Amino acid sequence: MIDPFGRHITYLRVSVTDRCDFRCVYCMAEDMTFLPKQEVLSLEELERLCGAFIKRGVRKLRLTGGEPLVRRNVMTLIRNLGRHIGDGGLDELTLTTNGSQLYRFADDLYDAGVRRLNVSMDTTDPERFHTITRGRGDLERVMQGLDAATAAGLKIKINAVAMRGLNEDAFDELVRWCGARGYDLTFIETMPMGDVDGYRVDQYLPLTEVRRRLEALWTLTDVPDRTGGPARYARVAETGGRVGFITPMTHNFCESCNRVRLTCTGQLYMCLGQEDSADLRAALRRSEGDDAVLAAIDEAIGRKPKGHDFIIDRHNRPAVGRHMSVTGG
Ligand code: 5AD
Ligand code: SF4
Repeated sequence: MIDPFGRHITYLRVSVTDRCDFRCVYCMAEDMTFLPKQEVLSLEELERLCGAFIKRGVRKLRLTGGEPLVRRNVMTLIRNLGRHIGDGGLDELTLTTNGSQLYRFADDLYDAGVRRLNVSMDTTDPERFHTITRGRGDLERVMQGLDAATAAGLKIKINAVAMRGLNEDAFDELVRWCGARGYDLTFIETMPMGDVDGYRVDQYLPLTEVRRRLEALWTLTDVPDRTGGPARYARVAETGGRVGFITPMTHNFCESCNRVRLTCTGQLYMCLGQEDSADLRAALRRSEGDDAVLAAIDEAIGRKPKGHDFIIDRHNRPAVGRHMSVTGG
């Protein structure tokens, strides 16, 4: 699949549920309304859609949410998708997770063919973690999950959203802790997606600033490594680890975008930061065969926009109405 700007689309992210057991302050409102269950595609339907994308040349699949591992029977989907790895057309099947269920799924994930996980963790401080997740997150449980994942042979990358006043005092410890455990660490700029009951302007911390602060303690050397996403990496001399920076706000990386995003209701978003979508559910349910779906996918890729228009200003308007948990990170 090649979009109108010549970008090869080989990466599909699938939000398997918009639900989550946490309520991170930058991601959700306290009182979230989730999609009615009858609108959500069955696991079989999600699998069929993923199969169609693989037919169209997708080599990398990432399951996200919400929290993918809170969806009932999600391991069945993961196991079936894992069968596409290798000769079946997929290079990689990965997950973005909050880690809350890893203590019980780590081994199954490895057995299904998953080798890498992105785990969202904005601080190593249990109390602060509790605050950021609005009282829903138990850091000890997550830590247990990380240990289980490491023991199972899964490679871990920690994602931390950088937020003024919330975790800005936790960055050095995250670098140290990830370095000691052999985890990659990626900082992310908060994006204006969906209403979150708060002023994003006050939370927003540009990563140029984060990097400047880190460099007071750590020696960072840029490295050309890429892990398939938009992160730019630096090596930390003192720990030997890598720190990545995802900068949708200060540096737009849309020119190298290789991905599209599918929601759990079968809407395909060609850009995280635009409203335009294609309804693949209708195409899916129109017939047993894949022709209608494949045609709908081709049509959608043909209108993938050039990039997002994120800005955070005093008006506090989200750039897009939907939350990150709908389209997936
Ligand atoms: N801006 C930036 N990152 C976000 N995430 C969730 N909401 C936002 C937002 N508004 C992050 C989560 C997770 C990943 C899927 O996206 O922390 O790491
Ligand atoms: Fe859940 Fe992830 Fe959103 Fe936090 S950031 S509320 S863990 S989906």
